Amino acid sequence: MKTKVLMVCLGNICRSPLAEGILKSKIDRQKIFVDSAGTGDYHIGDLPDKRSISVARKYELDITEQRGRQFSVSDFEKFDHIYVMDNSNYENVISLARHEEDKQKVKLILNEIFPGENVDVPDPYFGGDHGFENVFQMLDEACENIARKLQEEDEE
Ligand code: 4NP
Repeated sequence: MKTKVLMVCLGNICRSPLAEGILKSKIDRQKIFVDSAGTGDYHIGDLPDKRSISVARKYELDITEQRGRQFSVSDFEKFDHIYVMDNSNYENVISLARHEEDKQKVKLILNEIFPGENVDVPDPYFGGDHGFENVFQMLDEACENIARKLQEEDEE
């Protein structure tokens, strides 16, 4: 069975589509399934934000096959690991958890670089293009560590 990883932000158009695209580029897609979702319902069916598409393209990643979707309780059953972008996403996802096993799956993505520090990936939606570059770099570093961990789990 494939390991399944879900990236979650608020709109599923800026941060989590980048996290999905970046992690997909670092893992074996035969072994690991990666998806993303938003806690909000504002952008269901939408393409990622054009600034996310553009920064991804700069690093030779194509995220234009992605469409926005909303996180749902059934995602706790489908996914092994749920990485959220910020503390607000964390609260929103945890509030839907049915039991401890659901809660254990949810982690702040930047804790993969700064363990235990609970740092947010800043929401770049209302900022300029530099925000997207900054988010890309943070997510690239976090996904590098996630990919390494998944590889190690696979070798166990
Ligand atoms: P994201 O950014 O959570 O990184 O996708 C946002 C995108 C859209 C909205 C908020 C955050 N919005 O309110 O529409």
